[in-house]
Amino acid sequence: MSRILMVASEATPFAKTGGLADVMGSLPPALAGQGMDVAVVLPKYRGAPMEGARKVLDHLLLAVGPGRYTADIYQVERNGVRYLLVDCAPFFDRDGIYGYDGGDHHDNYSRFAALCHAALGIARHLFRPDVLHCHDWQAALTPVYLKQFFSNDPNFLGVKTVLTIHNLGYQGRFSKDKLWWLGLPEWLFRPDLLEFHGGINLLKASIVYSDYITTVSPTYAHEIQTPEQGFGLDGLLRARSGFLKGILNGVDYEQWNPETDGHIAAHYSAAELSGKRECKLDLLREFSLPLERPETPVIGIVSRMAAQKGFDLIAAVAYELIHWDIRMVVLGAGDPQYENLFRTLADAQPDKFAVRIGYDDRLAHKIEAGADMFLMPSHYEPCGLNQMYSLRYGTAPIVHATGGLDDTIDFSTGFKFRPYSGDAMLGALREALTVYWVDKAHWEAMMREGMRRDYSWRASAAAYVHLYRSLVG
Ligand code: ADP
Ligand code: GLC
Repeated sequence: MSRILMVASEATPFAKTGGLADVMGSLPPALAGQGMDVAVVLPKYRGAPMEGARKVLDHLLLAVGPGRYTADIYQVERNGVRYLLVDCAPFFDRDGIYGYDGGDHHDNYSRFAALCHAALGIARHLFRPDVLHCHDWQAALTPVYLKQFFSNDPNFLGVKTVLTIHNLGYQGRFSKDKLWWLGLPEWLFRPDLLEFHGGINLLKASIVYSDYITTVSPTYAHEIQTPEQGFGLDGLLRARSGFLKGILNGVDYEQWNPETDGHIAAHYSAAELSGKRECKLDLLREFSLPLERPETPVIGIVSRMAAQKGFDLIAAVAYELIHWDIRMVVLGAGDPQYENLFRTLADAQPDKFAVRIGYDDRLAHKIEAGADMFLMPSHYEPCGLNQMYSLRYGTAPIVHATGGLDDTIDFSTGFKFRPYSGDAMLGALREALTVYWVDKAHWEAMMREGMRRDYSWRASAAAYVHLYRSLVG
């Protein structure tokens, strides 16, 4: 049995800002189900639910650059996986996972360097892995520290490293002086190692140092090797393309299933769709939208409000959308300019547009169930989970054909547009509305086709198992 130690900054139910948490809450159990022995290292942030936790390691020393800290490690077992939470109050017992009030914590480089040190401490004292599997820039220093400081340590002999890039747009870039704070030698400041445009880049370092690199959909694995989507790292990724592949994320259908979902007003399935109408009325009530003419199509959005997610397209065509016979229900938080865009639309046309600014898991489920269509015009999307949730809820996705959106949606389950433009998006929306109004039979067939698609973790977890086996030999 291979032993896999994952390192990440989020995992449901302990901490979540986006899809990474969903993946860390569901991929490890799926791997355990395929015979892997899996543990996940993550920070114990303020307010993390700790039911059933027990302390498994006391006073683990973390030497973060010039600083000396200690951490206690708490273990929570969930679905056959050990979640190991790093309790180091100076770094993690504060408000906000990455920051608060719209700004990042000023010491994120140290905080996540501490996470990487803790992972190596755990690998040495608690869970000796065959593979260290690190996710995103917050975990990216783990393979770097491993090669730099422990290459001759017999405890780590033969340990392989995998880096999964969930989003190349976030690289962990800091000024050069942070090298010292990270405990890394000056000589690593080279263009083929950590240096990037005069500063340091932790994700880049990890791409150089990891044995294998994955990303979260096959199309995104190609896209990040192009100058358009490579965020300056496409050349390096092309150079490592023999050790890079895309493995599509899966869905946790225990959480996202209209037949069992505890958050929604009525249950339904591909065989019996009637409950979806009740969910739609419930959604309209929840957002104080008019209940007259309930057949008016509802377009849902649940999203981090970031430039990545394509809200500039909605801003560009808002002048047109306000005249359409639609309702739009939006849940999200992030960049104030996009929050304000939806507030302005809701103020101007309260019978058409409704927005809730914030993070609300219950509402996210209600939108998936109650909307007719789900809009994801992302500029780029490494994988995207909501479009796959939408499929299961019979809510037709309308997506920009990019990354995982392109890989998971086709013309029998939803609507895709390219190029990335307001006109192209309007075209897809018009097409969806036409089918919705004119050809009910086609619409329902499309809903059912989407609901039957299987994006469970089975195949994707098997792909990771195959990768681990090929690395460990
Ligand atoms: P990303 O990770 O880029 O944000 P994904 O589609 O992979 O995009 O995953 C987003 C996850 O976060 C989904 O589970 C989605 O339901 C959830 N989510 C995003 N914004 C909110 C919000 N405001 N309230 C509740 N859930 C949200
Ligand atoms: C990132 C990506 C998203 C992906 C998620 C989980 O946040 O933006 O596309 O689904 O990670 O891998």
